[in-house]
Amino acid sequence: MKNVCSACHTSSYVDNFYIQYDGAVNLYNDKFGIPATAIYKKVRGAGLIANDTTFDDELEWTYFYLWHHEGRRARMGAAMFAPDYPVAWFL
Ligand code: HEC
Repeated sequence: MKNVCSACHTSSYVDNFYIQYDGAVNLYNDKFGIPATAIYKKVRGAGLIANDTTFDDELEWTYFYLWHHEGRRARMGAAMFAPDYPVAWFL
């Protein structure tokens, strides 16, 4: 991938981009993904989420949105400077 970028950008620019991007992904994982998964598993393990039907409990949706919507928006935003790049996410 870096070879493609190097067609137009200097190698230090490309390297710095990936350092920053990896940092953003790790920040998401450490701050949101890993703690949320731990909480979700704990709640499910305690039997507080029904096992019969998925997505019938609000927490299942919250967890899904955290990963699929906000998480993807954060990762894709950081990767591709999407218009809905969530600057507040880093604060
Ligand atoms: C065909 C040439 C070309 C290639 C290949 C290319 N870029 Fe760019 N890139 C540009 C140009 C031109 C701009 C400036 C666009 C602008 O300012 O509107 C830019 C802008 C950027 C910016 C700054 C965006 C911003 O909003 O400040 C980053 C970061 C970037 N490129 C990273 C990459 C990465 C990572 C790759 C490889 C995956 C890549 N580019 C591949 C031409 C290229």
